[in-house]
Amino acid sequence: MGALELRKGYDPGVKPSQLCLIAEGYQNELAEELASLGVTQLFATKQTIGVLEDQVEPAWAQCVWRNVQSIEVDSIADGQRKLSAISKYWRYYGDQFNRRGSLIAEGLNLGKPSRPYRFPSRGEKSPPPVFTLGESGLIYYTDQIHRPAFDGKVSFVENKSTPPSRAYLKLWEALTILGDWPRAGDSVIDLGSSPGSWTWALAELGANVASIDRSPLAVELKNYQNIQFTTGDAFSVEPRPIDWVFSDVICYPEKLYDYARQWLDSGHCQKFVCSVKFAGKPDHSVINRFRQLPHSRILHLTHNKNEVTWMSHPKIS
Ligand SMILES: C[S@@+](CC[C@H](N)C(=O)[O-])C[C@H]1O[C@@H](n2cnc3c(N)ncnc32)[C@H](O)[C@@H]1O
Repeated sequence: MGALELRKGYDPGVKPSQLCLIAEGYQNELAEELASLGVTQLFATKQTIGVLEDQVEPAWAQCVWRNVQSIEVDSIADGQRKLSAISKYWRYYGDQFNRRGSLIAEGLNLGKPSRPYRFPSRGEKSPPPVFTLGESGLIYYTDQIHRPAFDGKVSFVENKSTPPSRAYLKLWEALTILGDWPRAGDSVIDLGSSPGSWTWALAELGANVASIDRSPLAVELKNYQNIQFTTGDAFSVEPRPIDWVFSDVICYPEKLYDYARQWLDSGHCQKFVCSVKFAGKPDHSVINRFRQLPHSRILHLTHNKNEVTWMSHPKIS
């Protein structure tokens, strides 16, 4: 089913296994990617695409809700009663019938609103389930959410003084999703590092950072003893034993893919975070090739623009 033929709004007659939340401005990318993966799109709202299959993780979804359950309710009080019987705490995602959904949410224990993360953070330990309204009498809910935030948006307490750009936010987001980050004394490589906000973030964690770019790092970073900067071509760096590889190089996705394969095949490193950048429309087939690499996820992060982030890590099954 193509994206344009989708039923608008939720469909009470079909049971989605997953809801894919749409990042603002990226509806086409998500719908096209789902189509390229052969996923059955059941319906679309302004913010969500419901899909039949489970266990798919489209890169362009802001968030995926897995194992979605539905309950029918005949009033606001009935909704509150049924949800309270399922869980003591809830979170609410406003989409269709938002006024009615908000009224149901008002009678539930929503806990504290989430605040910006202070990196590094492991996020909430066991976050409560989340619900949204499909029809006025239909609730979808799940406790299986594949991002740190139930709506997929991750915000951080920012450092507005030292890092030379805000690019470190996408690195923090990737590491928060992984639930792992370089520790003091780890050796890491940062390819395409100028002006240096990823290098700054890694150095702040106490890692020894080999930082490489054709252009220099910002002068603010000159006093960090644990940064060794080299001017040069990132792709001339041969795989060697190292704890993490990071890349934010602007290059063709295929070039990065081939380079990543060299590292993976070498067995010298198991942890990677790399931006895959697109000059125009995203190439879903190359995204899928990255996804199929061992222990990999590829996601469009809150802080990504026309790019996605590939991560490979032993924790990813
Ligand atoms: C988006 S910027 C990196 C921003 C950086 N991560 C930060 O946080 O400040 C991309 C960088 O890739 C570098 N670059 C592009 N091709 C390169 C190559 N073959 N070798 C080294 N650097 C390259 C560019 O010079 C540019 O500084």
